[in-house]
Amino acid sequence: MDPQVVARAPGRVNLIGDHTDYNGGYVLPMAIEQEIQVAARPIAQPTVQLTSEQFGEATFRSDSDERAAGWAVYVQGILRELRRSDWPPGFQMAITSSIPAGAGLSSSAALEIGTARALTAIAGEDWNPTEAALAGQRAENEWVGMQCGIMDQLTSAAGQAGHALLIDCESLSIQAVPLPGTLEVVVLDTRAERRLVGSEYNDRRAESAAAAAALGVPSLRHANETDVDKLSGVSLMRARHVVSENRRVLAAARSLRTGDFEALERIMSESHVSMRDDYETSAPSVEAMVEAATPAPGLIGVRLTGGGFGGCCVALVERGSFDQFSQFTLGRYRDRTGTIGRAYVTSAANGASLVEQS
Ligand code: GLA
Repeated sequence: MDPQVVARAPGRVNLIGDHTDYNGGYVLPMAIEQEIQVAARPIAQPTVQLTSEQFGEATFRSDSDERAAGWAVYVQGILRELRRSDWPPGFQMAITSSIPAGAGLSSSAALEIGTARALTAIAGEDWNPTEAALAGQRAENEWVGMQCGIMDQLTSAAGQAGHALLIDCESLSIQAVPLPGTLEVVVLDTRAERRLVGSEYNDRRAESAAAAAALGVPSLRHANETDVDKLSGVSLMRARHVVSENRRVLAAARSLRTGDFEALERIMSESHVSMRDDYETSAPSVEAMVEAATPAPGLIGVRLTGGGFGGCCVALVERGSFDQFSQFTLGRYRDRTGTIGRAYVTSAANGASLVEQS
């Protein structure tokens, strides 16, 4: 295929602030070097023809409401959100990716945002990262059936090289927080099977909404620690995580700015415990990885990252210690679990952009 446009969109790793986005709270993610590239051209037939090195081929009609099979549903979902009547009837798209699928690094958000970037360029429309991210979130919520928040799509669309993004998920305002040159960000992939990610995730979202309703606030963003103590059982646990995690995100952004690594260590560890005990999104593989990493050379802080129920941990390590850190951690992880995990060192990347346009 001779593409008219090639676009790229990165995956993301969240440094801190999980399950706060759909509660109107704060998150501190960054776009990563691993990315999806989408080469696209318009065609005259009302079909979308996809080829992916990783997943093979898929086709769906762009004029039908029939749900596409498998991974093509993400492309279909975002196209349904963006497409206007004056757009070309169909597209051919070739997709390549360096984001490991299913690991919790937002390969599906990157596919949505990469598709959006390529197709809006073909349609000659302006690029608005926040609008594209909201369209991606609606595609997930309304078409895919995943009740996710805005973090993954917004990070893939609006990432800034060398910076984490402090996002207020209520106003969608973004502050770029420079990452100190003395640390490196490491993704630790447990490579263990994840549990029923979608349904458990949607349960957490419903439980948070129920806790907010019980407190009479529009979202848990508007609850404080005293309010939370009025709750009991699951509502108490879910709300306590969200309220304390929002506080930790702001504290972590301050600590990054001042280079206070001792504070970061404590905050990341409290976040991990809160996700494990109150939000209950950890898994045995994740616990094994965090324990394996905890006394490793160069470690600043480590925690589960993203949706959870397996997937990846994020570690901040002192620059230059990646080899020793990862060897130590993955060796201990393998001894404990029999699984060969993976470690990637990654720097913060820019959000979606055009690579080529003819
Ligand atoms: C998934 C969702 C995000 C966010 C995280 C948890 O990645 O897609 O919206 O809720 O889980 O922080």
